[in-house]
Amino acid sequence: MAGEDGVKTFGWAARDTSGILSPFEFTRRATGAKDVRFKVLFCGICHTDLGAARGDLGLPIYPLVPGHEIVGFVTEIGKQVTRFKVGDKVGVGCFVGSCRSCEQCSNDLEPYCPKNIMTYLSIGEDGAPTHGGYSNEMVVDEHFAIRWPENLPLDGGAPLLCAGSSVYSPMMYYGLNKPGSHLGVVGLGGLGHVAVKFAKAWGLTVTVISTSARKEEEAINHLGADKFLVSTDPQQMQEATGTLDGIIDTVSAFHPVMPLFGLLKTHGKLVVVGAPNKPLEVDILPLIIGRKMMGSSAAAGIKETQEMIDFAAKHNITADVEVIPANYVNKAMERLEKGDVRYRFVIDIGNTLVAAPST
Ligand SMILES: NC(=O)c1ccc[n+]([C@@H]2O[C@H](COP(=O)([O-])OP(=O)(O)OC[C@H]3O[C@@H](n4cnc5c(N)ncnc54)[C@H](OP(=O)(O)O)[C@@H]3O)[C@@H](O)[C@H]2O)c1
Ligand SMILES: [Zn+2]
Ligand SMILES: [Zn+2]
Repeated sequence: MAGEDGVKTFGWAARDTSGILSPFEFTRRATGAKDVRFKVLFCGICHTDLGAARGDLGLPIYPLVPGHEIVGFVTEIGKQVTRFKVGDKVGVGCFVGSCRSCEQCSNDLEPYCPKNIMTYLSIGEDGAPTHGGYSNEMVVDEHFAIRWPENLPLDGGAPLLCAGSSVYSPMMYYGLNKPGSHLGVVGLGGLGHVAVKFAKAWGLTVTVISTSARKEEEAINHLGADKFLVSTDPQQMQEATGTLDGIIDTVSAFHPVMPLFGLLKTHGKLVVVGAPNKPLEVDILPLIIGRKMMGSSAAAGIKETQEMIDFAAKHNITADVEVIPANYVNKAMERLEKGDVRYRFVIDIGNTLVAAPST
């Protein structure tokens, strides 16, 4: 239960730039009037968690409990909460706070609020570092909580809260969701495989562009992609010149983007949502000649995240997940770095996270 001084919580935290996680006990705030408190059942492992744990995303705050693909059930609500009751299933994605009054917040674009509070790697309203979902429970203002559709599985659905939202939002914003158009998805990982599923639900033709030739069979036969290009094969790339209306690029590392512009038709859009830790190299001339554009995007705002989750539930879209116990998290990070996951690790927090013996 929530006491005046906060609630003892436990999870797994990175302590330094090695990114190695270990059991960690900390305090979450008591349940405020507008807060929902929930027991975490599952939490996805996003590539951003790996970067954050290693301090690649700017100034690291240690100890750091990662995780922003969090689902569970409500255990306590504040007096002014209207949208949730105890026992409801609930999700939390990348953001747990914002100013709620600026231009961006007024337009349901909380990720672009200059005062947004990220689920981890931020300082919360109480002045303490925020901690994510590799932990036994969460507490958030109900505005930042997503209502969970009854038919959406918790484990396969959890990754939608970041991976899903981070591809759905740019595909909507940049008009990459037009039935009949031809979309390229670069990088078949956590974000990329969900992008393929949304695109097929919208009736697009989809070409996966990957460095891993071994993923072709599954991209086409299991995920429903129409075509597959190995990005390191110049002949395949050449043959596909000028065939795509848009591309969503989810690659986590530095990679050449000029060959991708070559795949676009005139007026084509390359939307890069992956976050390589080195600048990408862009030559403007080919963009001028083809009136092409490059864009980017953060995860969806709260309203759009709810729309995306409801859309996924309606179309039976979930991530393909490998569910792991909490004590496998360091091994999972190692495998994620090598691309050895099909396509998202999800930690079974509810059944496997136990407090450290000393606590
Ligand atoms: N914009 C946002 O709001 C947002 C939100 C979440 C995550 N992200 C970022 O998006 C990126 C992807 O996240 P994720 O969780 O989907 O990661 P992931 O599961 O590791 O997938 C990334 C994919 O990129 C490809 N790739 C990896 N290294 C590569 C290299 N050196 N050259 C070319 N391709 C490479 C691989 O696909 P192939 O094997 O098919 O080539 C890999 O499966 C990360 O940088 C993450 O931080 C951004
Ligand atoms: Zn993420
Ligand atoms: Zn704001």
